[in-house]
Amino acid sequence: MPEFQVLATPEDVARAAADQIVAALNGGARTLVLAGGNTPKRCYELLAGAEVMWGRVTVLFGDERCVPPDHPESNYRTARESLLGRVAPATVHRIAGELGPDEATAAYDRIVGALAPLDVVLLGAGEDGHTASLFPGHPEVQATGWAVGVRNAPKPPPDRVSLTLPALQGARHVIVLATGAGKAEAVARARRGEVPSGMIAGALWLLDRAAAGQ
Ligand code: 6PG
Repeated sequence: MPEFQVLATPEDVARAAADQIVAALNGGARTLVLAGGNTPKRCYELLAGAEVMWGRVTVLFGDERCVPPDHPESNYRTARESLLGRVAPATVHRIAGELGPDEATAAYDRIVGALAPLDVVLLGAGEDGHTASLFPGHPEVQATGWAVGVRNAPKPPPDRVSLTLPALQGARHVIVLATGAGKAEAVARARRGEVPSGMIAGALWLLDRAAAGQ
């Protein structure tokens, strides 16, 4: 069963996530999978100022939109601006979303397969219960292997690349961030295991009171 921790504010959530990630990296974790979306931004800013031996770390992404890396919707661009432009990981495996779902997925499947099991995975949670680009009721949730191409995603842009549920479930540390009242319904459904974000048994969810429905 996932563990759910409720903290007072989004800043507390960001700080707790950064502390968890720093502890894992300084404890020997070598691969760090970054989340997309807006919630992790503050956590990334805190990570950028933390004491981490980034030269030992390989950074990957949980999902990416099929846009160029400098596009405002790019998860890579978000991570570069808030973290990767300020630290120097040994390796950053960007998902080359601009190549389109098929080619980018084939390339990333090989990269993740060579590095699995992943050590630390940070995820966000969508209001519909998705995580990464695995959307409730969509066929990609059943994908095997390490990466899967996504078309017609309900959350634009429609074309994406995502790690698969098995890739996420096999990671050693999974941290899911959810803040704001808009996520309360998704958190409740995740608690019941009804949506992809709730299907990672060993995950640690870090919530603020609003996302916890309090
Ligand atoms: C994406 C993200 C996605 C995100 C959730 C939450 O590429 O859109 O990977 O899974 O984590 O939609 O997004 P917010 O943090 O912006 O609410």
